[in-house]
Formats: sequence, structure tokens, C-alpha cells
Amino acid sequence: MSTPSDKALVPFVSVDNMMRLVHHIGVEDVLRDLAAYIEADFHRWELFDKTPRVASHSDVGVIELMPTSDGEAYGFKYVNGHPKNTSEGLQTVTAFGLLADVYTGYPVLLTEMTILTALRTAATSAMVAKHLAPKGSTTMAMIGNGAQSEFQSLAMKAICGVDTIRLYDKDRAATEKCAANLAGTGLKTVICTSPEQAIEGAHILTTCTADKQNATILSDNMVGAGVHINAIGGDCPGKTELASGILERSDVFVEFPPQTRVEGEIQQMSEDFKITEFWKVLTGQTPGRTSERQITLFDSVGFAIEDFSALRYVRDKVKDTPYHYDLDLLADPDDPRDLFGMLTRAKT
Ligand SMILES: NC(=O)c1ccc[n+]([C@@H]2O[C@H](COP(=O)([O-])OP(=O)(O)OC[C@H]3O[C@@H](n4cnc5c(N)ncnc54)[C@H](O)[C@@H]3O)[C@@H](O)[C@H]2O)c1
Repeated sequence: MSTPSDKALVPFVSVDNMMRLVHHIGVEDVLRDLAAYIEADFHRWELFDKTPRVASHSDVGVIELMPTSDGEAYGFKYVNGHPKNTSEGLQTVTAFGLLADVYTGYPVLLTEMTILTALRTAATSAMVAKHLAPKGSTTMAMIGNGAQSEFQSLAMKAICGVDTIRLYDKDRAATEKCAANLAGTGLKTVICTSPEQAIEGAHILTTCTADKQNATILSDNMVGAGVHINAIGGDCPGKTELASGILERSDVFVEFPPQTRVEGEIQQMSEDFKITEFWKVLTGQTPGRTSERQITLFDSVGFAIEDFSALRYVRDKVKDTPYHYDLDLLADPDDPRDLFGMLTRAKT
């Protein structure tokens, strides 16, 4: 067998190396850096090639492809969402992704994205909350204490200055796991026994549950004026977390409307329900929070540009580090048109 040439090799970041990279930089610094990359890409939103993600639904979950390009680089993520998986010892969400050079079409990075998705989702939530949450927000209710929850909590600490997290999950073991993981991070955690208790005194309400149904994690009468809702778990047709009355009383901010209208909390509302594209707040075209009593709601479903930013970040950070290895991913015949000859010569 011949040794692959440099042109055949693509840097690959395994789960193990992603964890090493994150610890090398520090989790909160990674969250801050990612938020900055995502914010920078939201500022140049208009130049991206945008499409709603391509979803393949089954009775038990969804598998999705999320592509986008800024004209110089192209990225996509493969991601699944299977709420029943945890009962089988598997994760609800797993992912991997690829970044490519638009000029040659050659991949420049292949990476795990399960951990990276949790980081980028949390960084996006906190970046949005930094602009929309009431000034001086220090307390967050975290409803749904699964895989994403510690990342969400730490991002709100690192980027928004939150210091207290009020935890609730229908499964007490998940809440205890989250509280134990957050011990020693500088966050104060309060274990709550109901969603009502969790939101007491909270300035930011994060819902991050997984259930393949239209659930009511927050009912209308639970939500008072002057809060920011960070709705993460409603991200598929037929999968929502908020009572529609809350949406009617809120100013709703979204990523990419053609995707959110199908997948987000607003799938419950009419097609002309008023929403604001969050990138327009960043670029100063539309106001964000305009009053203390306003309810702002980030109807997050996760958009391809956030993954693109995360891929860019990992590409920049792993350069000249040991946190990747080269995969023999691309065939590289001596004569580009003699692919078959390369195959023939490899026969032993
Ligand atoms: N918006 C985004 O960008 C984005 C990104 C990643 C994940 N998600 C979504 O976030 C959700 C959470 O993901 P995860 O990886 O943490 O899942 P997970 O399965 O690890 O955790 C979900 C938690 O929700 C709890 N839960 C379910 N129903 C509940 C209820 N009625 N009340 C209270 N708790 C309840 C479960 O007990 C579990 O602990 C999923 O729905 C996922 O699809 C969204």
C-alpha cells in the first residue's frame, strides 16, 4: 500500500481531542470565543448561502443535515435528535461536521460535533441573552437538566454574568447530576421540585427538555413581565415547550424564519405571526429589548451558520496543536484523471 500524499489528508478532531482542546483553552473561554465567532458571522448574515436544514423524520426522532457557505468556506453538520435514546443508554443528540474550501471543494476539517454542538448552542443562547435579557440578570431557571444544561448554565455565567441557576427536571437524577457537575464552577445552584419553583425570581428562563410532543413546560400564567425566555428544546415539527399565550405576550426573536416557522415554538402560531430576525438586532436595523417589562423570547432551533462559526473556530484553534490527526480521506492519484489506475496499482 502506498503512503497517502499531503493532498489526501484532512485534519480530524476526535471526541478525545475535542475534550483536550476545550480543557487546554478552558470551557468558559471556549464559550466566550465561540459567542464572538457566532456574533461576527451573524453580523455578515446576508452574505451566507442559507437554507432550512434537510430533515428526515421517523416516529422516534430526526436526522438532519445543516449546510451553509460564506463563499470562501462551506460547512455542514450531521445531527440527530432522538428523545427516547437516553432510556437506551444513548444520547438524544450526536453530531459531526465538515468544513471545506469553496475554491477547490476539498475538505479542510472533519470534526466531532456532539460536544461542539452543546458548546455552540449554549454560546448562541448567551450571545442572544447578552443583547435581550433584562440588564443585571443574575438568576436563570434551567428547566431540563440533560446533556445541554451545564453548557447553557456556564455560557450564561461567562457571557451574561449570571451567578445563580435554579434547576428543575422531571427526573430528579438529572437535576442532581447537573448540580454536581456545576459544583466548583462558581455558580450557585438551587434544586427545585417544580417548574413554578424554578422560575421564582429568575430573570432568564431556559427551557431545554426533550420530548417528541407539543409539551407545556411553561404555561401562560407562569411567566410574568420583564423576563427573557431562552427556548431551546422545541426544535422539530410537533415538538414545542411553551404555551401559545406566552408567545402572544412576547417579542419573539428567531434565527432563520423559513426554518423556525416549521420547527420552532412559532409553529403553533399563524404564518404571519410577528417575529424579528435576531441578526437585525445585532446590526442595529431593529430594536431588541425596549422596555423593562417586555418579555423577550429567543425561539432557538439551531441554525447552520452557528455550526459554521464553530467549525471555523475549531479550524483556527487546532492549527499547530496536537489536538487533531490527519485522516486519509481523499483519493489523490498521481494523474488526477487516473483514479482507476491508482486503484489498480493498489492491488496486492
Ligand atoms: N436549539 C438548539 O440549537 C438545540 C441544540 C441542541 C439540542 N436542542 C434540543 O434541546 C433539548 C435537550 O437536549 P439534551 O441533549 O439536553 O437532551 P437530554 O435528553 O440529554 O435532556 C433532556 C432532559 O429533559 C428532561 N425532560 C423531558 N421532559 C420534561 C418535562 N416535561 N419537564 C422537565 N424536564 C423534562 C429529561 O428528563 C432530560 O433530563 C432537545 O430537545 C434537543 O433537541 C436544541
